[in-house]
Amino acid sequence: MTGPFRKIVAVLEGQTVSPPPIWLMRQAGRYLPEYRETRAEAGSFLDLCYSPKHAVEVTLQPIRRYGFDAAILFSDILVIPDALKRNVRFVQGEGPQMDPIDVAEIAGLSPEGVMDHLAPVIETVRRLRQELPEETTLLGFCGAPWTVATYMIAGHGTSDQAPARLFSYRNPQAFPRLLDILADISAEYLIAQLDAGADAVQIFDSWAGVLGEEEFQRYAVGPVSRIIGKVRAARPGARIIAFAKGAGMNLKSYRQGTDANAIGLDWTVPLSFAAELQKDGPVQGNLDPMRVVAGGAALEEGVDAILQKLGNGPLIFNLGHGITPEADPAHVSDLVRRVRGAM
Ligand code: CP3
Repeated sequence: MTGPFRKIVAVLEGQTVSPPPIWLMRQAGRYLPEYRETRAEAGSFLDLCYSPKHAVEVTLQPIRRYGFDAAILFSDILVIPDALKRNVRFVQGEGPQMDPIDVAEIAGLSPEGVMDHLAPVIETVRRLRQELPEETTLLGFCGAPWTVATYMIAGHGTSDQAPARLFSYRNPQAFPRLLDILADISAEYLIAQLDAGADAVQIFDSWAGVLGEEEFQRYAVGPVSRIIGKVRAARPGARIIAFAKGAGMNLKSYRQGTDANAIGLDWTVPLSFAAELQKDGPVQGNLDPMRVVAGGAALEEGVDAILQKLGNGPLIFNLGHGITPEADPAHVSDLVRRVRGAM
């Protein structure tokens, strides 16, 4: 029995697809006028995440416009702290905020009720698989425990995650416990997404780059490997992309350490090093999102360099981080055409 051919699934299973399939991190978002319209209609950002009708609509918008090879579930990594009753809110112009957690509250955290709270997100995944074109890969996702913990400890985003780093040194028992709880909940959440129709899932460790060598192993590799182990024990063959932004040289051990099918690369990863990493398996990335804002020659040269260095192996073309609100939607069309060889 063979299902429909989905290019990103093929790459995750080790095949080289030429030209490489493409999707973009944050492909549903404020750079699209139709997103801003649905967002205004839905209410708050979290209302949008928990409304299957609106979340399905914004997930499909970039697929209709650009025909990307994957759709990524519209939600946020912070729905897990929200489900853990951390009073998460998205303040216009200030980014996410929540109640900072302390040691006593970590001891009291319970996964009870979390999956019920996240049921609307799982319903969004189910509807998406029904509405997407057959050939479009559907990606689910969650945040990596370290990255989610940085927001839970500080109560907001910071530029260097100093509060979480300090907390980890001062509370060497409580901190790993927080990561373990987040890993176990994340595994259950990803399994539910796969069961609802996701073809693969991505784990976002956006703040892996602030960790020292030993801490990277303990707080980035360890918890992500715990999630992947649990997901694969329950769903053998589950396809997983692990994105550790800023990990640099640590990426050498990241694939083996986590057992991810593919690793995501940010734009600071040199293409020669990326080609080395690709010898061990599929890679995803890594165009600088600012090249999409700039457009023109900067965009074309960036795309061509990646295709030249990584295009002959298993590659999922993507940005090195999320697309930004100031990107011109016309530049995204140029990007897709260039990758597909039509420009
Ligand atoms: O990629 C996609 O299109 C799927 C949806 C998605 C969002 N956030 C939507 C979103 C995904 C996969 C995320 C992941 C996410 N969320 C990460 C990891 C990836 C990364 O970008 O580093 C992180 C760290 C978050 C936490 C978060 N959510 C922050 C820091 C912010 C505020 C910054 C901002 O851009 O405003 C958000 C809000 C958010 N998540 C928006 C979107 C489209 C913008 C909110 C709005 O519409 O007002």
